[in-house]
Amino acid sequence: MSHLFEPLTIRAVTFRNRIAVAPMCQYSSTDGYANDWHFVHLASRAVGGAGLVLTEAAAVEPQGRISPQDLGIWSDGHIEALAKIVEFMHNLGAIAGIQLAHAGRKASTAPPWEGGKLLDEADGGWRPVVSSSAIPFSENRPVPEALNIEGIQQIIRAFVQAAKRSVEAGFKVIEIHAAHGYLLHQFLSPLSNHREDQYGGSFENRTRLLREVTQGVREVLPDGYPLWVRISATDWAENGWDIEQSIALSDKLKSLGVDLIDCSSGGTLPHVKIPYGPGYQTTFASRIRNEANILTGAVGLITSAEQADHIIRTNQADVVLLGREFLRSPYWPLEAAKKLGQNQVSPVQYERAWS
Ligand SMILES: Cc1cc2nc3c(=O)[nH]c(=O)nc-3n(C[C@H](O)[C@H](O)[C@H](O)COP(=O)(O)O)c2cc1C
Repeated sequence: MSHLFEPLTIRAVTFRNRIAVAPMCQYSSTDGYANDWHFVHLASRAVGGAGLVLTEAAAVEPQGRISPQDLGIWSDGHIEALAKIVEFMHNLGAIAGIQLAHAGRKASTAPPWEGGKLLDEADGGWRPVVSSSAIPFSENRPVPEALNIEGIQQIIRAFVQAAKRSVEAGFKVIEIHAAHGYLLHQFLSPLSNHREDQYGGSFENRTRLLREVTQGVREVLPDGYPLWVRISATDWAENGWDIEQSIALSDKLKSLGVDLIDCSSGGTLPHVKIPYGPGYQTTFASRIRNEANILTGAVGLITSAEQADHIIRTNQADVVLLGREFLRSPYWPLEAAKKLGQNQVSPVQYERAWS
């Protein structure tokens, strides 16, 4: 029976356990560059025993940043600082992964601790913001420019170039961010995508951009490297993107060489009712795993060792991703191992803490 501390092999990569650090924006970069903060933040979770440490959303284009302080990988210049962090994490036995992202119509905002409000150009923001259709996220956000075909091709190229750079930086897992109401999700959801060309309308058309991005990224990844996609399994809104479409999409992504679907939810509309509670999104990971027959990651209010272990033991998901719990507790895996009576190798420098 699989359990939380059983290694998992996907393609040529073996994760020491089923615990991943969920991608979490740090809003701490200048011009997209990783710095000492990212080193400490990411490497300390690798010290703490995570099997996979995913970076926050790294923007594939400067216009695709949520805030001016987002991490980025839109130029070769970004590689060196990331490579240093990646190498350090690999030496600690964790696998380093990167999330590639474009915020689309949700771009150009201030960090949450400055209120997350829309930034005008005078305050360091930018225009236009782009999307599938000229529909703003909310009444106080700008009307985005609907991408034309050349613009769409440029987005695909940006994801592919970013994936190449990620490999150069040494990352062994690439996660495409197609969740939370950001650009790729803006194409998936009928609530944000009102296009009438080959990128809008039918399920086939709304999923086309993500499928093309996936295909392009898979082509530049070495065969042995896992490719993950994060989706919002539902918009939590009538006539929106839903779990049935997510299952059908996951099946298509599998045939394009995606190895794991990271199952989150929400983000298309600002004021939806989400039934928050322990493991509130795990059911999506479970359904996609069983009905699309693909590996899945469960995320969302997973906090205890027993809960995480139960998700893996009952085959609801193959990996658990923890977000906020990892902010509170960077050595969560080491503590979980102790609770569950499992061996988890800690850095030799810290061994006496667990004896
Ligand atoms: C500070 C913070 C930043 C986040 N940034 C990202 C991000 O860059 N990409 C992403 O896909 N999700 C992001 N998320 C969502 C988390 O990855 C995760 O899905 C969410 O927090 C739910 O998991 P949790 O209950 O374990 O925190 C962020 C969450 C937090 C708290």
